[in-house]
Amino acid sequence: MPPYFLQHYSEFSSEAKQLSKQWLTQLILYGGMSHFCRWFVGRVTMRTIQERKTKIIMIHFDILTLFPDMLSAYFEDSILKRAQENQLIQIGLHNIRDYTTDKHHIVDDTPFGGGGGMVMKPDPLFRAIESVRADNTHVIFFSPQGRVFNQSIAQELSQRGNLLLVCGRYEGVDERVRETLIDEELSIGDYVLTGGELPAMVLVDAVSRLIPGVLGAEHGAAQDSHATGLLEHPHYTRPANFRGMEVPDVLLSGHHANIDQWRRQESLRRTWQRRPDMLERAALSKADKKFLVQLKQQAPPAEDADG
Ligand SMILES: C[S@@+](CC[C@H](N)C(=O)[O-])C[C@H]1O[C@@H](n2cnc3c(N)ncnc32)[C@H](O)[C@@H]1O
Repeated sequence: MPPYFLQHYSEFSSEAKQLSKQWLTQLILYGGMSHFCRWFVGRVTMRTIQERKTKIIMIHFDILTLFPDMLSAYFEDSILKRAQENQLIQIGLHNIRDYTTDKHHIVDDTPFGGGGGMVMKPDPLFRAIESVRADNTHVIFFSPQGRVFNQSIAQELSQRGNLLLVCGRYEGVDERVRETLIDEELSIGDYVLTGGELPAMVLVDAVSRLIPGVLGAEHGAAQDSHATGLLEHPHYTRPANFRGMEVPDVLLSGHHANIDQWRRQESLRRTWQRRPDMLERAALSKADKKFLVQLKQQAPPAEDADG
Protein backbone atom coordinates (compact mmCIF):
# COMPACT_ATOMS: atom_id res chain seq x y z
CA MET A 1 0.00 0.00 0.00
CA PRO A 2 1.51 3.41 -0.95
CA PRO A 3 2.66 5.49 2.07
CA TYR A 4 0.66 8.44 0.66
CA PHE A 5 -2.54 6.48 1.18
CA LEU A 6 -1.69 5.72 4.82
CA GLN A 7 -0.46 9.22 5.62
CA HIS A 8 -3.63 10.90 4.37
CA TYR A 9 -6.15 8.25 5.34
CA SER A 10 -7.42 10.26 8.36
CA GLU A 11 -8.20 13.22 6.03
CA PHE A 12 -10.44 11.07 3.78
CA SER A 13 -14.20 11.62 3.87
CA SER A 14 -16.20 8.76 5.43
CA GLU A 15 -17.40 7.83 1.91
CA ALA A 16 -13.83 7.66 0.62
CA LYS A 17 -12.84 5.60 3.68
CA GLN A 18 -15.71 3.20 3.02
CA LEU A 19 -14.77 2.90 -0.66
CA SER A 20 -11.09 2.28 0.04
CA LYS A 21 -12.02 -0.38 2.63
CA GLN A 22 -14.14 -2.13 -0.02
CA TRP A 23 -11.29 -1.98 -2.59
CA LEU A 24 -8.86 -3.28 -0.04
CA THR A 25 -11.13 -6.21 0.88
CA GLN A 26 -11.65 -7.02 -2.80
CA LEU A 27 -7.93 -6.79 -3.47
CA ILE A 28 -7.13 -9.22 -0.66
CA LEU A 29 -9.96 -11.53 -1.70
CA TYR A 30 -9.03 -11.63 -5.40
CA GLY A 31 -5.32 -11.79 -4.64
CA GLY A 32 -5.92 -14.72 -2.28
CA MET A 33 -8.18 -16.46 -4.79
CA SER A 34 -5.73 -16.08 -7.64
CA HIS A 35 -2.91 -17.32 -5.41
CA PHE A 36 -5.07 -20.31 -4.41
CA CYS A 37 -5.98 -21.01 -8.04
CA ARG A 38 -2.32 -20.96 -9.11
CA TRP A 39 -1.41 -23.28 -6.23
CA PHE A 40 -4.32 -25.61 -7.06
CA VAL A 41 -3.53 -25.78 -10.80
CA GLY A 42 0.14 -26.42 -9.94
CA ARG A 43 -0.80 -29.31 -7.62
CA VAL A 44 -3.08 -30.91 -10.21
CA THR A 45 -0.46 -30.57 -12.96
CA MET A 46 2.26 -32.07 -10.75
CA ARG A 47 0.01 -34.99 -9.86
CA THR A 48 -0.80 -35.62 -13.54
CA ILE A 49 2.91 -35.59 -14.42
CA GLN A 50 3.67 -37.99 -11.57
CA GLU A 51 0.79 -40.29 -12.58
CA ARG A 52 1.97 -40.25 -16.19
CA LYS A 53 5.49 -41.07 -15.05
CA THR A 54 4.32 -44.16 -13.23
CA LYS A 55 2.33 -45.27 -16.29
CA ILE A 56 5.34 -45.12 -18.66
CA ILE A 57 5.99 -48.44 -20.39
CA MET A 58 9.19 -49.69 -18.87
CA ILE A 59 11.50 -52.56 -19.64
CA HIS A 60 13.14 -54.46 -16.85
CA PHE A 61 16.53 -56.06 -17.54
CA ASP A 62 17.95 -58.55 -15.05
CA ILE A 63 21.48 -59.69 -15.69
CA LEU A 64 23.14 -62.76 -14.18
CA THR A 65 26.90 -62.47 -14.22
CA LEU A 66 30.02 -63.36 -12.29
CA PHE A 67 31.31 -59.80 -12.80
CA PRO A 68 28.58 -57.26 -12.00
CA ASP A 69 31.12 -54.42 -11.58
CA MET A 70 32.07 -54.69 -15.25
CA LEU A 71 28.51 -53.84 -16.19
CA SER A 72 27.61 -51.27 -13.54
CA ALA A 73 30.25 -48.80 -14.76
CA TYR A 74 28.64 -48.77 -18.20
CA PHE A 75 25.07 -48.51 -16.98
CA GLU A 76 25.79 -45.72 -14.50
CA ASP A 77 26.64 -43.11 -17.09
CA SER A 78 25.14 -41.11 -19.91
CA ILE A 79 21.90 -42.11 -21.67
CA LEU A 80 21.33 -45.40 -19.84
CA LYS A 81 21.80 -43.69 -16.49
CA ARG A 82 19.22 -41.04 -17.43
CA ALA A 83 16.83 -43.70 -18.75
CA GLN A 84 16.97 -45.42 -15.36
CA GLU A 85 16.50 -42.14 -13.47
CA ASN A 86 13.45 -41.42 -15.65
CA GLN A 87 12.13 -44.91 -14.92
CA LEU A 88 12.04 -45.87 -18.58
CA ILE A 89 14.24 -48.87 -17.94
CA GLN A 90 15.37 -50.77 -14.86
CA ILE A 91 18.55 -52.82 -14.68
CA GLY A 92 19.12 -55.40 -11.96
CA LEU A 93 22.60 -56.91 -11.66
CA HIS A 94 22.84 -60.28 -9.89
CA ASN A 95 26.04 -62.05 -9.00
CA ILE A 96 25.70 -65.75 -9.79
CA ARG A 97 28.11 -66.47 -6.94
CA ASP A 98 25.46 -65.24 -4.49
CA TYR A 99 23.35 -68.27 -5.45
CA THR A 100 25.93 -70.86 -4.43
CA THR A 101 25.43 -72.83 -1.21
CA ASP A 102 28.97 -74.05 -0.53
CA LYS A 103 31.52 -72.32 1.67
CA HIS A 104 33.79 -71.31 -1.23
CA HIS A 105 31.01 -70.07 -3.57
CA ILE A 106 32.14 -72.32 -6.40
CA VAL A 107 30.38 -71.76 -9.71
CA ASP A 108 32.37 -73.97 -12.11
CA ASP A 109 33.64 -77.52 -12.43
CA THR A 110 35.63 -79.70 -14.83
CA PRO A 111 33.78 -81.16 -17.85
CA PHE A 112 32.63 -84.78 -17.83
CA GLY A 113 34.59 -86.69 -20.44
CA GLY A 114 37.73 -84.69 -19.76
CA GLY A 115 39.32 -82.04 -21.91
CA GLY A 116 40.34 -78.50 -21.13
CA GLY A 117 38.41 -75.64 -19.60
CA MET A 118 35.71 -75.42 -16.97
CA VAL A 119 31.93 -75.50 -17.18
CA MET A 120 29.45 -73.37 -15.19
CA LYS A 121 27.71 -75.65 -12.71
CA PRO A 122 23.94 -76.10 -13.06
CA ASP A 123 22.99 -75.62 -9.41
CA PRO A 124 23.84 -71.91 -8.88
CA LEU A 125 22.37 -71.04 -12.28
CA PHE A 126 19.11 -72.91 -11.66
CA ARG A 127 18.79 -71.22 -8.29
CA ALA A 128 19.60 -67.75 -9.71
CA ILE A 129 17.31 -67.96 -12.76
CA GLU A 130 14.41 -69.44 -10.80
CA SER A 131 14.61 -66.78 -8.14
CA VAL A 132 15.04 -63.77 -10.44
CA ARG A 133 12.64 -64.53 -13.30
CA ALA A 134 8.94 -63.62 -13.25
CA ASP A 135 6.16 -65.43 -15.16
CA ASN A 136 6.53 -63.31 -18.29
CA THR A 137 10.33 -63.10 -18.28
CA HIS A 138 12.14 -63.93 -21.50
CA VAL A 139 15.40 -65.68 -20.59
CA ILE A 140 18.34 -65.11 -22.93
CA PHE A 141 21.69 -66.88 -22.77
CA PHE A 142 24.61 -65.33 -24.61
CA SER A 143 26.52 -67.77 -26.75
CA PRO A 144 28.56 -67.66 -29.97
CA GLN A 145 26.26 -70.50 -31.08
CA GLY A 146 23.07 -68.41 -30.88
CA ARG A 147 20.98 -66.43 -33.35
CA VAL A 148 23.03 -63.42 -34.42
CA PHE A 149 21.73 -60.29 -32.73
CA ASN A 150 20.64 -57.46 -35.04
CA GLN A 151 18.41 -54.38 -35.14
CA SER A 152 15.21 -56.29 -35.81
CA ILE A 153 15.85 -58.59 -32.81
CA ALA A 154 16.52 -55.45 -30.72
CA GLN A 155 13.19 -54.07 -31.96
CA GLU A 156 11.43 -57.34 -31.11
CA LEU A 157 12.94 -57.41 -27.59
CA SER A 158 12.05 -53.76 -26.93
CA GLN A 159 8.39 -54.85 -26.94
CA ARG A 160 8.93 -57.20 -23.99
CA GLY A 161 8.59 -56.13 -20.38
CA ASN A 162 11.09 -58.42 -18.65
CA LEU A 163 14.35 -59.73 -19.99
CA LEU A 164 16.72 -61.95 -18.03
CA LEU A 165 20.19 -62.03 -19.55
CA VAL A 166 22.56 -64.83 -18.57
CA CYS A 167 26.26 -64.16 -19.12
CA GLY A 168 28.36 -67.26 -19.61
CA ARG A 169 32.02 -67.67 -18.71
CA TYR A 170 34.58 -70.48 -19.13
CA GLU A 171 33.39 -73.03 -21.73
CA GLY A 172 29.80 -71.99 -21.14
CA VAL A 173 26.98 -73.45 -19.03
CA ASP A 174 25.99 -77.04 -18.24
CA GLU A 175 23.76 -78.17 -21.13
CA ARG A 176 20.85 -78.87 -18.75
CA VAL A 177 20.60 -75.15 -17.94
CA ARG A 178 20.39 -74.34 -21.63
CA GLU A 179 17.78 -77.04 -22.33
CA THR A 180 15.55 -76.28 -19.37
CA LEU A 181 15.68 -72.59 -18.51
CA ILE A 182 16.79 -70.67 -21.59
CA ASP A 183 14.19 -69.29 -24.01
CA GLU A 184 16.67 -68.02 -26.55
CA GLU A 185 20.40 -68.00 -27.26
CA LEU A 186 21.90 -64.88 -28.81
CA SER A 187 25.31 -64.26 -30.31
CA ILE A 188 26.69 -60.79 -31.01
CA GLY A 189 28.83 -62.01 -33.91
CA ASP A 190 30.91 -64.81 -35.31
CA TYR A 191 33.82 -64.55 -32.89
CA VAL A 192 34.40 -65.82 -29.35
CA LEU A 193 34.63 -63.55 -26.32
CA THR A 194 35.75 -64.44 -22.80
CA GLY A 195 32.28 -63.86 -21.37
CA GLY A 196 28.70 -62.72 -21.93
CA GLU A 197 29.15 -59.33 -20.21
CA LEU A 198 29.95 -57.37 -23.38
CA PRO A 199 27.01 -58.99 -25.22
CA ALA A 200 24.75 -58.01 -22.29
CA MET A 201 25.88 -54.38 -22.52
CA VAL A 202 25.38 -54.45 -26.29
CA LEU A 203 21.85 -55.83 -25.96
CA VAL A 204 20.73 -53.49 -23.15
CA ASP A 205 22.10 -50.50 -25.05
CA ALA A 206 20.58 -51.40 -28.42
CA VAL A 207 17.18 -52.30 -26.92
CA SER A 208 16.97 -49.33 -24.53
CA ARG A 209 17.52 -46.68 -27.18
CA LEU A 210 14.40 -47.99 -28.98
CA ILE A 211 12.21 -47.27 -25.97
CA PRO A 212 10.31 -44.01 -26.47
CA GLY A 213 11.81 -41.23 -24.37
CA VAL A 214 15.24 -42.81 -23.87
CA LEU A 215 16.84 -40.75 -26.63
CA GLY A 216 16.09 -37.03 -26.76
CA ALA A 217 12.92 -36.15 -28.68
CA GLU A 218 15.06 -34.56 -31.38
CA HIS A 219 16.83 -37.85 -32.17
CA GLY A 220 14.83 -40.39 -34.11
CA ALA A 221 16.17 -43.92 -33.56
CA ALA A 222 13.84 -44.76 -36.44
CA GLN A 223 16.20 -42.94 -38.84
CA ASP A 224 19.35 -44.83 -37.79
CA SER A 225 21.22 -47.29 -39.98
CA HIS A 226 19.45 -50.68 -40.08
CA ALA A 227 16.25 -49.30 -38.53
CA THR A 228 15.14 -48.17 -42.00
CA GLY A 229 16.62 -51.20 -43.79
CA LEU A 230 19.33 -48.90 -45.21
CA LEU A 231 22.53 -47.32 -43.91
CA GLU A 232 22.11 -43.75 -42.77
CA HIS A 233 23.23 -40.73 -44.82
CA PRO A 234 26.42 -38.79 -43.86
CA HIS A 235 26.28 -36.04 -41.21
CA TYR A 236 28.02 -32.66 -41.05
CA THR A 237 28.22 -29.95 -38.40
CA ARG A 238 29.85 -26.51 -38.04
CA PRO A 239 32.11 -25.11 -39.46
CA ALA A 240 30.73 -25.16 -43.03
CA ASN A 241 34.30 -25.06 -44.32
CA PHE A 242 36.87 -27.10 -42.40
CA ARG A 243 40.42 -27.02 -43.74
CA GLY A 244 39.04 -26.34 -47.19
CA MET A 245 36.51 -29.19 -47.02
CA GLU A 246 33.03 -27.86 -47.75
CA VAL A 247 29.68 -29.08 -46.47
CA PRO A 248 27.34 -29.93 -49.40
CA ASP A 249 25.45 -26.76 -50.45
CA VAL A 250 22.05 -28.39 -50.16
CA LEU A 251 22.46 -28.81 -46.38
CA LEU A 252 22.98 -25.05 -46.00
CA SER A 253 20.05 -24.16 -48.27
CA GLY A 254 17.30 -24.43 -45.66
CA HIS A 255 15.16 -26.14 -48.35
CA HIS A 256 13.76 -29.08 -46.39
CA ALA A 257 12.38 -31.07 -49.32
CA ASN A 258 15.74 -30.90 -51.12
CA ILE A 259 17.58 -31.83 -47.91
CA ASP A 260 15.31 -34.85 -47.42
CA GLN A 261 15.87 -35.95 -51.00
CA TRP A 262 19.65 -35.53 -50.67
CA ARG A 263 19.67 -37.58 -47.45
CA ARG A 264 17.59 -40.36 -48.96
CA GLN A 265 19.83 -40.56 -52.03
CA GLU A 266 23.02 -40.53 -49.96
CA SER A 267 21.55 -43.26 -47.79
CA LEU A 268 20.86 -45.34 -50.91
CA ARG A 269 24.33 -44.58 -52.27
CA ARG A 270 26.01 -45.65 -49.02
CA THR A 271 24.00 -48.84 -48.75
CA TRP A 272 24.74 -49.73 -52.36
CA GLN A 273 28.45 -49.06 -51.84
CA ARG A 274 28.86 -50.81 -48.49
CA ARG A 275 25.99 -53.27 -48.03
CA PRO A 276 24.34 -54.02 -51.38
CA ASP A 277 22.77 -57.11 -49.75
CA MET A 278 20.55 -54.81 -47.69
CA LEU A 279 18.98 -53.28 -50.80
CA GLU A 280 17.42 -56.64 -51.66
CA ARG A 281 15.30 -56.51 -48.48
CA ALA A 282 14.74 -52.75 -48.16
CA ALA A 283 11.38 -51.08 -48.88
CA LEU A 284 12.14 -48.92 -51.91
CA SER A 285 9.96 -46.34 -53.64
CA LYS A 286 9.84 -45.86 -57.43
CA ALA A 287 12.10 -42.81 -57.02
CA ASP A 288 14.60 -44.88 -54.98
CA LYS A 289 14.72 -47.57 -57.65
CA LYS A 290 15.21 -44.99 -60.40
CA PHE A 291 18.06 -43.40 -58.44
CA LEU A 292 19.71 -46.80 -57.93
CA VAL A 293 19.52 -47.56 -61.65
CA GLN A 294 21.30 -44.25 -62.37
CA LEU A 295 23.87 -45.03 -59.67
CA LYS A 296 24.63 -48.45 -61.10
CA GLN A 297 25.01 -47.00 -64.60
CA GLN A 298 27.53 -44.44 -63.33
CA ALA A 299 29.98 -46.79 -61.60
CA PRO A 300 30.30 -50.11 -59.73
CA PRO A 301 30.23 -50.00 -55.88
CA ALA A 302 33.33 -48.08 -54.74
CA GLU A 303 33.89 -49.94 -51.46
CA ASP A 304 33.68 -53.67 -51.67
CA ALA A 305 31.31 -55.39 -49.28
CA ASP A 306 31.47 -59.07 -48.51
CA GLY A 307 27.82 -59.74 -47.80
C1 LIG B 1 34.74 -68.58 -24.11
S1 LIG B 1 33.03 -68.42 -24.36
C2 LIG B 1 32.50 -70.07 -24.56
C3 LIG B 1 32.48 -70.53 -25.96
C4 LIG B 1 32.00 -71.95 -26.10
N1 LIG B 1 32.96 -72.86 -25.58
C5 LIG B 1 31.74 -72.26 -27.55
O1 LIG B 1 32.67 -72.64 -28.25
O2 LIG B 1 30.61 -72.09 -28.00
C6 LIG B 1 32.41 -67.97 -22.79
C7 LIG B 1 31.10 -67.22 -22.80
O3 LIG B 1 31.26 -65.99 -23.45
C8 LIG B 1 30.04 -65.62 -24.05
N2 LIG B 1 30.30 -65.35 -25.47
C9 LIG B 1 31.45 -65.56 -26.12
N3 LIG B 1 31.39 -65.19 -27.40
C10 LIG B 1 30.14 -64.73 -27.58
C11 LIG B 1 29.44 -64.20 -28.71
N4 LIG B 1 30.00 -64.06 -29.89
N5 LIG B 1 28.16 -63.81 -28.54
C12 LIG B 1 27.55 -63.94 -27.33
N6 LIG B 1 28.17 -64.43 -26.25
C13 LIG B 1 29.44 -64.83 -26.35
C14 LIG B 1 29.05 -66.73 -23.82
O4 LIG B 1 28.21 -66.40 -22.74
C15 LIG B 1 29.96 -67.89 -23.49
O5 LIG B 1 29.32 -68.84 -22.67
